[in-house]
Amino acid sequence: MDFLLRGGRVIDTSPASPRDAAADVLVQDGRVVDIGAGLAVPSGARVVDVSDLVVCAGLVDLHVHFREPGHEYKEDVASGSAAAAAGGFTSVCCMPNTKPVNDCRAVTDLILDRARAAGLARVYPVGAISKGLEGHTLAEIGEMAEAGIVAVSDDGRPVMNTGLMRRALEYAKTFDLPVVQHAEDLDLAEGGAMNEGAVATRIGVRAQPAQAESVMVARDIELVEWTGARYHVAHISAARSVALVREAKRRGLPVSCEVTPHHFALTDEACAHYDTSTKCMPPLRTEADLAAIKQAMADGTIDCIATDHAPHSAVEKELEFELAAPGMIGLETALPLTMALVREGVIDLARAVAMLTSAPAALFGLDRRGAGTLAPGGPADVCVFDPDRAWTVDRERGRSKSHNTPFHGLDMRGRAVLTVLAGRPVYDLDGRLS
Ligand code: DOR
Repeated sequence: MDFLLRGGRVIDTSPASPRDAAADVLVQDGRVVDIGAGLAVPSGARVVDVSDLVVCAGLVDLHVHFREPGHEYKEDVASGSAAAAAGGFTSVCCMPNTKPVNDCRAVTDLILDRARAAGLARVYPVGAISKGLEGHTLAEIGEMAEAGIVAVSDDGRPVMNTGLMRRALEYAKTFDLPVVQHAEDLDLAEGGAMNEGAVATRIGVRAQPAQAESVMVARDIELVEWTGARYHVAHISAARSVALVREAKRRGLPVSCEVTPHHFALTDEACAHYDTSTKCMPPLRTEADLAAIKQAMADGTIDCIATDHAPHSAVEKELEFELAAPGMIGLETALPLTMALVREGVIDLARAVAMLTSAPAALFGLDRRGAGTLAPGGPADVCVFDPDRAWTVDRERGRSKSHNTPFHGLDMRGRAVLTVLAGRPVYDLDGRLS
């Protein structure tokens, strides 16, 4: 289907083709072919009025859990891809903590096959660092790299063994793959289910200190300095970790990090009523951490926003707080929560778009495949969103198979209205292209 998106605010934050102006976007044969003011309509192309809307590259999420293979009752690649499309995302990187773990080519291939069959998003597998995520021996990183992984991580678990982390950094470097760390020193964390501080003391929940994260980030940065490998901190949450990353970047080290919408929108006060949908790893932190996170989003220390979309069923969530599984879904609420930061004046709209498109694409090399930009000639992966659209989150109406969100019933502003993947509408809230 060929079409012309007429009159939107077109924002492209990629360094090669920057743009922020009212313009038309012409899509033909699955590609963006032209961007400019007052473009002529080729015969057979439909015209879609997108004035008052933002047109940007399809959003890119470096961190989702699609649970296939093994836990398809929570999510599978098809339902996760549908949730991605509904949130404006066209490229997502899925973490390896499936069952079996994605630690070899067969599992990587299976995920890629499922993603192709669903056809709703580009799904890029992240391979495990260690076999079975057990932290003992390196996984088959070489063969997974051949099969198409874009990074390695034991996410859900940290790499506790410093020697293994060294080897992972050295080995991943030979494939130019970033190593993504779930930074949580388990000896310091002591199984704590929320942030150590006043709220945990008040409500009597076993807690873990922010230093469980920052100590591991500090150790890893020392290893990065040694090995020169690319290192990415998943779901950064603590002010101290942010300070360490800022300092590492100042020294020119290849260190990057992402923040989740829940870590920039909520504090541990959200856990005060034992709502297990607020339980996540790392845990929600304090106002002081939140302030540091926002500062770091504004000054570029935090590179990008990633959802850590972590579906769980009622079976894992309707339990005591300490026993419930950590994590929350996030693909369909990321954009509105980011727009709230824009209205608050923390970041401007262009920086918000960069943190959801060009910046994450560049970190995992997805820019080489055309993600994160609208540059003519590339695949037409497009997100059209209304930064002010008011709506109320209804966990029953999301595309994910799981409903574990703490934002249920909350009024939001900002929403993806049209998501296009390789020129095909994969989400069309108002029926503009149907
Ligand atoms: O909250 C989380 N949930 N954090 C993680 O690191 C893992 C994730 C999951 O897999 O559920």
